[in-house]
Amino acid sequence: MNVLGIETSCDECSASVVLDGEKILSNVIATQIPFHAEWNGVVPEIASRKHTEWIYAVVKEALDNASLNVKDIDAVSVTNRPGLLGALLVGLNFAKAFSWAQNIPLIAVDHMLAHLYAPRLTVIGEKESKVEYPFLGLLVSGGHTIICRADNFDDITILGTTIDDAAGEAFDKVAKFYNFGYPGGQVIDKMAKQGDANAFRFPLPSLHKADHRYDVSYSGLKNAVINQLDIFKKKQDYTKEDIAASFQKTAVEILLRALLNAVNDTALATVVAGGGVAANSFLRARLAEETGIRCVFPPLELCGDNAAMVAGIGYHYLARGDRSPLSVTASARVDGFKKKYP
Ligand code: KG4
Ligand code: ZN
Repeated sequence: MNVLGIETSCDECSASVVLDGEKILSNVIATQIPFHAEWNGVVPEIASRKHTEWIYAVVKEALDNASLNVKDIDAVSVTNRPGLLGALLVGLNFAKAFSWAQNIPLIAVDHMLAHLYAPRLTVIGEKESKVEYPFLGLLVSGGHTIICRADNFDDITILGTTIDDAAGEAFDKVAKFYNFGYPGGQVIDKMAKQGDANAFRFPLPSLHKADHRYDVSYSGLKNAVINQLDIFKKKQDYTKEDIAASFQKTAVEILLRALLNAVNDTALATVVAGGGVAANSFLRARLAEETGIRCVFPPLELCGDNAAMVAGIGYHYLARGDRSPLSVTASARVDGFKKKYP
């Protein structure tokens, strides 16, 4: 079954064709980064407009790259949650029109679940990294930080979330404050390689209560890096690369602490990482040092938002007979993906 995937939840306009939920025939990811860079962050209205301008060409390119035409597509899978509402609506409405015009099934999916599906896709040239359920999911993006147990492609139990900012949001805000460049995560990752990660000793959050064992918080770290830098410095002369490296080290330790609690308590030793922050080289290196866990990272092009993971997971809903009606709507948020403190 050839499933066309469409993903427009944030600033990537993406379309893909995936065969039988596994084999990527094409995966076009048109990034809007240059259009948001001048604002140092994603501007929702610009995102919606660019998706509107690009979606037809991006879908056409995905079909062309797969050497298929519209008649070869058996179903359409599209992200309808969570994300920027206006941006989601562009992809969702395009998908509805495609499914209606071709008289083929439509399935609307949660793209956070799709991130967990990414390692199950076969990328030509990459070695396979098949994962069996159950496993732990580490979803780290610009909008979410979620540690969950995954029992199936559509069955996750949230163990922990952020109680304030998402991990990617913390990278983006620090980079924005210091004018490091955009997007923050990628820039800090690169700068940190030239910096001293021990130049500052930033605080870790104290989420002591038992029901916060798997939660994370970034507001304290963000405040320390942005407003109280001098208090935490370990040496007199420091560079901006030192700030980046010390911040990144602490941001990753915050994630690891909650993740290792979940690994210990659930006895699940396989972790599937997803979301833009899963591209972080220091996070990958730190997880590799944890010999007790097997951490599966999708290839870099499948870490951030992409339509291949949406087409891939969509196949499984479609195969068991699920369909979305043309009346399906988009939702900016999904219940449970963010906790309140305490
Ligand atoms: O999953 P994603 O592409 O979009 C959503 O937020 O849904 O994630 C984007 C986030 C941004 O906050 C970006 O700064 C962060 O992922 N990011 C990184 C890296 N590459 C992207 N964060 C840390 N290190 C990276 N290498
Ligand atoms: Zn995402």
